[in-house]
Amino acid sequence: MSFEHRPVLLAPTVDALVNPSFGQKKNKGKREALVEAVNARENGVFVDGTFGRGGHSRALLERLGPHARLVVFDKDPQAIEVARALAASDSRVSVVHDGFATIAAALSELKIERIDGAMFDLGVSSPQIDDAQRGFSFMRDGPLDMRMDTTRGLTVAQWLAQASVDDMREVIASYGEERFAFQIAKTIAARCAERTIDTTLELAELVASVVRTREKGQHPATRTFQALRIYINRELEELAVALASTLDLLAPAGRVAVISFHSLEDRMVKQCIAAAANPAAAFARMPLRESEMPQPIVKSLGRVLADDDEVARNPRSRSAVLRVAERTDTPMPEAGAEGFVTALNPLAHNDVTASGRGRRGRKGH
Ligand SMILES: C[S@@+](CC[C@H](N)C(=O)[O-])C[C@H]1O[C@@H](n2cnc3c(N)ncnc32)[C@H](O)[C@@H]1O
Repeated sequence: MSFEHRPVLLAPTVDALVNPSFGQKKNKGKREALVEAVNARENGVFVDGTFGRGGHSRALLERLGPHARLVVFDKDPQAIEVARALAASDSRVSVVHDGFATIAAALSELKIERIDGAMFDLGVSSPQIDDAQRGFSFMRDGPLDMRMDTTRGLTVAQWLAQASVDDMREVIASYGEERFAFQIAKTIAARCAERTIDTTLELAELVASVVRTREKGQHPATRTFQALRIYINRELEELAVALASTLDLLAPAGRVAVISFHSLEDRMVKQCIAAAANPAAAFARMPLRESEMPQPIVKSLGRVLADDDEVARNPRSRSAVLRVAERTDTPMPEAGAEGFVTALNPLAHNDVTASGRGRRGRKGH
């Protein structure tokens, strides 16, 4: 069976990367400067961190010149198959089957030192949600997997079978912002003590049995599934690394465009851009002279939401937020961009990691 993905905020995302006047209140530059900037971008080096089915990549390629390069990443082997087919017919495309957190190492291997733009359309694709066999959906019965990269790492079923109540509670509370996290964790642990939870519907029903107050229009397992998916795929950890690496890699006037679908992601993107756009804020209480204050690394080019038409055509776009920033020509501080994203992941302070080892050890130890 084939599953389709309808790209969200397609036109503004591509525009954000290639249109010099995107997000500018008015075009201050001269006409010639603008044309030069457009030409430079058209044959620049770009990254699509989340290829999916390539909707954004294809639209970007249509706007790029013959000498441009586009490096695409995805964790998902099915997405990579589609990406490789595209690369076979378009020599501008290079494919990396890995998490976008590896962007710095992957580009270095491709001998790319600077990029002109990068886009990240975060989260899961429709094919991943719609295919019951991938185990992402609480509406369709399938194996409890939820890995984007099915070639490595633990499935959710495997992690739950060995996690402690504390680790489960922490993941469900932090990544699902779920009020009933402790009750859910206790119930899951009690079931796992009898037998493993192998299917999505079994988990969804178990969660529904303890989440007593239902949010309007939302399945009671929504928050728990979101939390487990974010955790098992290390989504926020990877995002923090990718944002910092992208800022390090962007050439002056290069752009980064990120589409988020929930508040944890969007908060991280927003705070990273704000910190890089105003690094002096961190030194506000220090007795520094104006000339000693750190200068902006990026300029925010704003936020775009889907309009009513898009939401009507594609309900997935309802929660989407696109944020765009442009690199300034201020040299990066020696410490790199990491400081702009540290401490933005709610679980970054401890080591409940997707490797399966929790802070307080394994269940029963
Ligand atoms: C929302 S979809 C992208 C859809 C794409 N823009 C399109 O138009 O077809 C997200 C994709 O990013 C991938 N993905 C999510 N997080 C990733 C990460 N950290 N590294 C690499 N790929 C990731 C998922 O496997 C999925 O295929």
